[in-house]
Amino acid sequence: MKQIKIFSPATVANVSCGFDCLGFAVNDLGDTMTFTKTEQKEITITKITGADLPYESNRNAAGAVAKAMLEKHPVDFGLDIEIHKGYTPGSGLGSSAASSAGAAFAVNELLGNPFSKLELTKFAMLGEEIACGSPIADNVAAAIYGGFILVQQYEPLHVIKIPVPDELMLVAIHPQVEVKTKDARDVLPTHIPLEDAVTQWANVGGLISGLYASDYQLIANSLKDIIVEPARKHLIPYFDEVKQTAIDSGALSAGISGSGPTIFALCKGQENAKKVYQHIDNMYQHTGINYTMVLSKINTQGVILLASN
Ligand code: HSE
Repeated sequence: MKQIKIFSPATVANVSCGFDCLGFAVNDLGDTMTFTKTEQKEITITKITGADLPYESNRNAAGAVAKAMLEKHPVDFGLDIEIHKGYTPGSGLGSSAASSAGAAFAVNELLGNPFSKLELTKFAMLGEEIACGSPIADNVAAAIYGGFILVQQYEPLHVIKIPVPDELMLVAIHPQVEVKTKDARDVLPTHIPLEDAVTQWANVGGLISGLYASDYQLIANSLKDIIVEPARKHLIPYFDEVKQTAIDSGALSAGISGSGPTIFALCKGQENAKKVYQHIDNMYQHTGINYTMVLSKINTQGVILLASN
C-alpha cells in the first residue's frame, strides 16, 4: 500500500454529564485526509484546505501524531499528508481530534496495523495536546472507536464502547463565535460540592444505562450537566434559548458540544430531529449571529478507509 485516503468523523464530547469521559461520533461531518508514502524519511504536510492550520509537522496535530508513530515503529519511508477539513476548527465538534484520530488510523494502516485502537487513541491524544494544550481522550476515542465511548480511566487509559440506540439522532448548531478550549477550561470550578458530584455521576450512570437499554426516557432524564454547563454557557450566545427550543420541540435534551460553541441536541427518530432542526433554525435566524447546522445519525464506525492503492 503506497497511499491511503480516510474519513475521520466530527465528535461531540462530554454529552452533558460526562465531562472529559463521554463522547460520540457524528456521521455527516468530518475530515478527509490522504497519506502517501515517500522515499524521504520525513513527515510533510503538503496541503490543507478548509482551515488555516500550521504546515509545520511538529505544530500540526496530524503531523505530530504521525511523527510519534514512526518514532515508535521505525520504517524506511516518510509521509506526505493532505488534510481537507470538513468543518471549522474551534467549533466544539472535535476538529483537532478528527485530524489526530485520522492520522493515527491512516499511519497504522500504512504500517500494517501494528497498533490496537487503544494505542491509536493514545497517539491521537498527543495531537490534542499540540492543538489545545491538554491530552484529552473523549473526542479522539469517539473518532477512533465510533459510536458512544466512555473513557473509564485515564491512567492507564481504558476506553469502553457503548451501544447506540437505533433511532438516536443528532441536531447541532454552530454559532460562528470563537470559544477556545483553553478559555472554556479556565472558567471551570476547581472544587465542587459533594451533592453536585452525586447528581452528576448518577446521571452518567443513567445515561450509560439508557444507551445500553435503548431507554430514551432515561437518556432524556440523564442528559443533565449541573457542573460544567452552568460555568460555560455564558460563552455561547443564546445557549438557554436554543436548549429550551430543542426541548420544547421534543428533543431528549440539549447541551454544549465539547467546549463549545456548538450546541447539540439528541432526538429520537428522524421526524423529531427534523422538527428540532427547523425550530432551532427559525429561532437563531433572529439573533443576527451567523451559524451552521447539522442533522446527522450517530456514526458507529469511527474513522474509515475511503481508498487505498
Ligand atoms: N472534554 C473537553 C472539554 C473537550 O470539554 O474541555 C474539548 O473539546
